[in-house]
Amino acid sequence: MTTEPRTIRLRAPDNWHAHFRDGPMLDFLVPVFLDSGWRRRIVAEPNITPPVLTGDRAVWYRDAILERARAHDPATTVDPVMTIQITETTPGATVRDARSKGVGIGKVYPFMVTTHSGNGVQDYDKIYPALEAAQDCGLIVQFHGEHPSDDIEGLNKEAGFTAILDRIRARFPKLKLTMEHITSRAAVDWVKAQGDGVGASVTVHHLFTTVDDVLGYSKASGGLMRVHHGCKPQPKWRDDRAALNEVVLSGHPRFFYGGDDAAHLRRRKEAEGSACGVWNTMAALPLLVDLFDREGQLDRLDPFLSEHGARFYGYDLNAESVTLVEEPWVVPAEVEATGMGDSVVPMCAGETLKWRVRA
Ligand code: DOR
Ligand code: ZN
Repeated sequence: MTTEPRTIRLRAPDNWHAHFRDGPMLDFLVPVFLDSGWRRRIVAEPNITPPVLTGDRAVWYRDAILERARAHDPATTVDPVMTIQITETTPGATVRDARSKGVGIGKVYPFMVTTHSGNGVQDYDKIYPALEAAQDCGLIVQFHGEHPSDDIEGLNKEAGFTAILDRIRARFPKLKLTMEHITSRAAVDWVKAQGDGVGASVTVHHLFTTVDDVLGYSKASGGLMRVHHGCKPQPKWRDDRAALNEVVLSGHPRFFYGGDDAAHLRRRKEAEGSACGVWNTMAALPLLVDLFDREGQLDRLDPFLSEHGARFYGYDLNAESVTLVEEPWVVPAEVEATGMGDSVVPMCAGETLKWRVRA
C-alpha cells in the first residue's frame, strides 16, 4: 500500500529582503523566485548599477521585475516592494518624493562593508535629514547593521552597530526601522529590548550555518573554505545561531523572514576577492519547513513567513497559499545562468532536502 506524502499548506510567504539584480541576472532570477515559492511580496534591494536612489528609479525597477514575472507566469501575484537607498547625500525631498510614488522602504548600507557599498554611509549624522523626512512621511528604514569603522573587527561589527542605532532611536523616536539579516545574540537582545517601532529580519542561512562552515572548520565543510556560504554579515558562533533559532521559534512578533537572496556568478564567488552573498532562494522554504517541523513549531512558521512582517510594514495578510510536499529532491550542484556563460551555486548544492515546493 502506498501512502500519500505529507503536505503543508502555507500562507504565501513574504520576503523582506532580496536581491533581484539587473540585466541578464534579473531575467534569470525572477523565474527562480516564483518557482521556489516566493510569489507575493519581495523587497527589492536597491544595490544595482546604477543604484536605486530615487522614487522614479524604484518605479522603473519594480516594473522591470514585474515584466519578467508576468512573462514567466501571466497570473502572477508577486509584489516587488520598492526601496530607495539612503546615502549621505540623500535630500529629505527625495525621500518625500519617493514615498509619494509608493516607495515604502529606505535602505542604509554601511560604507565598504558589502557588495556595491562604495556609496554607503560612514558618518550617520549625515543621513539625519533623510531620516527626519522618513520619520515624517512614514518611510520605514532598513539598516544593514554593521559598523563601517575599521576599528571594529568584522565579527563584532553587528554588535557595534547597535550604538549607532541607539543614537538614531534617541533622535528619531517615531522612525520605524528594521535591523536586517541579524546574525548575533547581541542583535537579538537589542531588538527585543526596543518597542514596536523596531523589527528584525532573519535569513535562512544564518539559522543554519556558523562561521565554521564558511572558514572550513566544520566536518560538513571537509576542511575547505566554503565561499558560497560567505556573506555579510558573516555567520557567527554557535551561541549566536542558537539565539536566532530561539527567537524565531518562539514566535516573537517583531522578527520576520528576509532571505537576503544574493546570487553571484560562480566566477565572482570562486575568486580571490570573492563576492559576498548566499543564493538561498531554492532551498529556503524546504529548509524552514523542516526546521519548524523538527522543533514541533509548525504553527509558528506562517507567522514568521507571512504575518509578522506584513503587520510591521503595514500590509494585509496574503490570501494566496503555497504548498510543500514531503518528497526528497536533490538541490542542483549549480544552475546555468542563461546568457551569462556561467552558473550560480545554490545553498545546499548537491544536498538532498526533505521538502519540495509544489509548482
Ligand atoms: O552577503 C551579502 N550580499 N550582503 C549584502 O549586504 C549584500 C549582498 C549582495 O548584494 O550580494
Ligand atoms: Zn542584502
